Amino acid sequence: MNQDELKKAVAQAALDYIRPHLDQDSIIGVGTGSTANCFIDLLANVRNDFDGAVASSDATAERLKSHGIPVYDLNSAAPLEFYVDGADETNEHLELIKGGGGALTREKIVAAVSKTFICIADESKLVGILGEFPLPVEVVPMARSYVGREIVKLGGDPVYREGFITDNGNIIIDIHNLDISRPIQVEEKLNNIVGIVTNGLFARRPADLLLLGTADGVKSIS
Ligand code: A5P
Repeated sequence: MNQDELKKAVAQAALDYIRPHLDQDSIIGVGTGSTANCFIDLLANVRNDFDGAVASSDATAERLKSHGIPVYDLNSAAPLEFYVDGADETNEHLELIKGGGGALTREKIVAAVSKTFICIADESKLVGILGEFPLPVEVVPMARSYVGREIVKLGGDPVYREGFITDNGNIIIDIHNLDISRPIQVEEKLNNIVGIVTNGLFARRPADLLLLGTADGVKSIS
């Protein structure tokens, strides 16, 4: 299977996993990215099995709506039973790097309020130690230079994602070459830098279930 087929396979596996638990009142948390898009497209086929969704980005909200799936404000939908989303990297502990698409803040919020976070990814995303993929952080624009200097003190190389504005009106700095051998500690250190809204490490709240697309089929890791 090629990468697109693996993405479709894990999206189908996620739908198969949650479908027995859905009812007419169910509101599903839905992530952002090409793998999450596969899941959204499959959700459209079972439109009558659930009520609607909470979206982790404007792009996801638009895709859901294009399928006729109602999109709810999180404040009127929490708590959510399931959140389904992709990742840029995962380790075997289901700690993740997310935010390649810049939606990390809303993704982290939806993950936080969801009882079960199902990560769907093809096997290229599984790594031993997180950090080969540059770690995105969302930053209030006026803090860009300060945050960059603080990242250098932590040993990372900050790269401003030029021309990109998040759904929340902020900027993204991608951190290269950061030692993320201790993900929870790195997540906390970054959280303590004033001006960083969110960092893309999902270690304090990792995924609960990883559905990993491999050449031998979809593997469930929890
Ligand atoms: C969006 O901000 C990211 O966290 C995505 O979940 C991540 O980039 C995975 O995207 P793909 O499924 O397109 O690889």
